[in-house]
Amino acid sequence: MNGRSVYPVTTCEATSLAETTRLLSSVLLPTVARGAIVRRPVGETLAAATESDRRIVSVLRELRERHGDDPLPLSYTGRRIALVLAPEDVRRLLEGTPEPFSPGGAEKRGALSHFQPHGALVSEHRSRPERRRANEEALAPGRLLHPDADSIAGHVHAEAQALVLALRNAGSRGGELDWSRFSETFDALARRVVFGSFAAGDRRTTELLRALRGRANWSYLLPVDRNLRGAFLDRVRENIDRAEPGSLAARLGRPESAERPEDQVAHWLFAFDASAIAAFRALALLTSSGSAVEAARAEALTEEGTDLPLLRATLRESVRLWPTTPVVIRESTRETTWRNGTIEAGTAFLVMSSYFHRDPAQLSYADAFEPGIWTDGRAEGEPGIVPFSHGPAGCPASDLVPLTVSYLLRSLLGGGPLHRVDGGLPLHTRELPDSLNHFGLRFSY
Ligand code: HEM
Repeated sequence: MNGRSVYPVTTCEATSLAETTRLLSSVLLPTVARGAIVRRPVGETLAAATESDRRIVSVLRELRERHGDDPLPLSYTGRRIALVLAPEDVRRLLEGTPEPFSPGGAEKRGALSHFQPHGALVSEHRSRPERRRANEEALAPGRLLHPDADSIAGHVHAEAQALVLALRNAGSRGGELDWSRFSETFDALARRVVFGSFAAGDRRTTELLRALRGRANWSYLLPVDRNLRGAFLDRVRENIDRAEPGSLAARLGRPESAERPEDQVAHWLFAFDASAIAAFRALALLTSSGSAVEAARAEALTEEGTDLPLLRATLRESVRLWPTTPVVIRESTRETTWRNGTIEAGTAFLVMSSYFHRDPAQLSYADAFEPGIWTDGRAEGEPGIVPFSHGPAGCPASDLVPLTVSYLLRSLLGGGPLHRVDGGLPLHTRELPDSLNHFGLRFSY
């Protein structure tokens, strides 16, 4: 023993008490305060004010310089946790899923069972493959243009047009696009894309989910509200039964099947919220200046088909720059061996997205808007850039989300020149801030 580590010498070197304390206060607690399942405005404001994303980069880089490349076990936490420090280890973890690196884990199960106890992400080994397959069939990962792209474009345009008209006809103050108005439109378009036009006005389903997600932020510290969850999942099941051709839910099996479609759809509705956040930030990028922004805006104004590569890349840049999943977690099912030692079974490996996405020492474009990285192979060649995760449990909507949002961005930009009116500093696309509080953004035509 080296006096600091609680691990025997053959295990990877661990943090000192002072390092653990610093990590907890400056990296892990601010991440939890933001809200893992539904973002908290106060947590977001705090994260921005304390520059916690910037600190994640400097603290983790310093730890890597001191301890080396291996994942770094944290001592004195009461839970086996290791911080991933080298980009190539991110790939190893995500490609080694679900064995020996499980995507589940007690915290995720605790959180997600509040509203989707049978979702793919928290499924046991045995039931995971068919639930995953159901998701892939519906969401079509690996296809830049989803098979129902025409239908998706139609739904998105209908909702966006209604918003543009309301904003343009409302006069000065009433004509502002703030987060609450934007997310209302986004919720409606998500319900349409998931179930079909009939669900556009079904706010109740979204409200029930929001109440459950508020509890889910507390993971297993709060008991599951079974009545509320039952009411929500029943409603989702009824909507799946009515799903229109061309909707995502129409591509699923029957609700009574082992895939538990209502739980998979519950995850979709939940995850469209992250898409809304990323889309609103993408809009902020598109109201700034610079040649890449101008090219994306030109695509919005001239392209009429379903293929909008620059707007899709804009969304991907939004989630690289400001990840909506701040930490990706894998839990080891057995002892694992690294360069200089081993790490115990049952360890939660944390991949802190900002550290890998925004380190200027690793990436020349760390703080810049550089949509080209998504089309010229640079992002793909960086194993640490994982806004949609990667591998067998990576996000199956990693192509659907940029596609859906590209249509929304086109419709909003097509409504006329949009300006930011929230009084925040204009975004400089070569030097972007480390966090962007979406609750505070406001736009106007
Ligand atoms: C900005 C939007 C989104 C981002 C950044 C995102 C990101 C992610 C990430 C990082 C994971 C993996 C978590 C892990 O590895 O532990 C994930 C999983 C998943 N996402 Fe997304 N997601 C988004 C939107 C969506 C949407 C809209 C859907 C559905 C329509 C969706 C469906 C799923 C599903 C089903 C899983 C679980 C996959 C599995 O366990 O096999 N996501 N997402």
